[in-house]
Amino acid sequence: MTVEIILQKTGPQISKYIYGQFSEHLGNGIYGSLYVGDHSDIPNVNGMRSDVVNALKKIHVPVLRWPGGLFADTYHWRDGIGPKDGRKKIVNTNWGDVTENNHFGTHEYFELLRQLGADAYINANIGSGTVQEMAEWVEYMTMPGESPMANLRRQNGQKTPWPVKFFGIGNESWGGGGNMRPEYYADVYRQYQTFLPQYDKEHPIYKVACGPNEDDYHWTDTVMNAAGQYLDGISLHYYTLPTGTWGQNKGDATNFPESQWSSTMTRAKHMDELITKHSTIMDHYDPEKKVNLIVDEWGTWYNVEKGTNPGFLHQQNTIRDAMVAAINLNIFHKHADRVYMANIAQMVNVLQAMILTKGDQMLKTPTYYVFDMYQKHMDAELLEGIGQVPDNVTYTASRKNGTVTISICNYDAHENQVITFNGLKTLKTIDSAQILTADKLDAHNTFENPNAVSEATFTGAKFDHGELQLALPSKSVVSITLK
Ligand code: AHR
Repeated sequence: MTVEIILQKTGPQISKYIYGQFSEHLGNGIYGSLYVGDHSDIPNVNGMRSDVVNALKKIHVPVLRWPGGLFADTYHWRDGIGPKDGRKKIVNTNWGDVTENNHFGTHEYFELLRQLGADAYINANIGSGTVQEMAEWVEYMTMPGESPMANLRRQNGQKTPWPVKFFGIGNESWGGGGNMRPEYYADVYRQYQTFLPQYDKEHPIYKVACGPNEDDYHWTDTVMNAAGQYLDGISLHYYTLPTGTWGQNKGDATNFPESQWSSTMTRAKHMDELITKHSTIMDHYDPEKKVNLIVDEWGTWYNVEKGTNPGFLHQQNTIRDAMVAAINLNIFHKHADRVYMANIAQMVNVLQAMILTKGDQMLKTPTYYVFDMYQKHMDAELLEGIGQVPDNVTYTASRKNGTVTISICNYDAHENQVITFNGLKTLKTIDSAQILTADKLDAHNTFENPNAVSEATFTGAKFDHGELQLALPSKSVVSITLK
């Protein structure tokens, strides 16, 4: 199989925000894993867990969505500011009815962003909050001058405003965020966004409206029609479920039948159809593609690990998840003209995580390694490839500063593949080559064996006279840079 890479053409830029993450007040997604508090025995900087932050810094997290998810529509930001011992304890009604002490609030979120070097993506509460509450939160965070909320922020220790890059108005408003109909939501959105203060006229806050659940095309059509001129992006939520059902049995994360390997791949690839169809509807209202599609929840969703709280959504992460990550990232790249941000759910310990923790231990998942290998595509220019690859293979070619990166995934459970890329005559040499692969379908890392599945140097590449030949094992992700 041969693909010709067209180096003469300039494609759209692959936004770095496609590599965005999401952390919700859910299970062990924040407490004990990202945030341990300043008095913890686990090494930390201002309460942020150092081993986890250091691992995340390596993958250059560009943006972090917070505080939810469903939690966002029950979150009242004032509960999470001021001295910690005075903060209100609430019940997290969406996720296990556990007590939330609000020790991780606005100041802690921006401290985490500072340490990660990531931008902010805040999701407002429009389900149980008010317009005034939302407007005052934005005033608290971003007002540079004298004002009641800016003064309160200073009183709580933060002199200068924080930059808020992205702002979500509603989360799953069609479901747990208010059970609204799209006609009603569109009006609610129009109202809330009217009162979103924009103090920094040079860097206005990017407004994200709640978009559809999976293939709800009517939602996209209605919101774009009624509110399209008031938004910068509209979200899409789609999770990969091996059994295709939200019922009792979504499929296990490990020890699954081979049929669930194939069904997982098929469902992951469905993202392409969803983006294509939603984008076509958007084209009708926005032919110049000024409004972006923001896939702010995606990833695998399995049955929770046995013995864990069902409300904590804790699952293992295997080489299968690495395939799902690569398939989705390649799809997002392909739609770089419309998809500006994506946020995998969720960064640590929840659903398709980068990192799992247990006490003071942590491990990197196979998904983490895909994000590590793929980061060379961030803000790179997408390159076109002409030619077919086998059914179970997907790839991206991109260029940044003269370096070409080809990342390719062979998600066949058994068959190895040989793929040739040509058209690369202006390039001289392979600069780096990595592979992530494993023998077993559910190979994964454990706290006893944290490096069972990890990145290694790839030796199956030959580059000669502009022709790159790759011998890809089954179940592998490979990333090559050429200079
Ligand atoms: O990511 C977990 C949950 O999935 C989010 O809170 C919600 O938005 C979605 O249903």
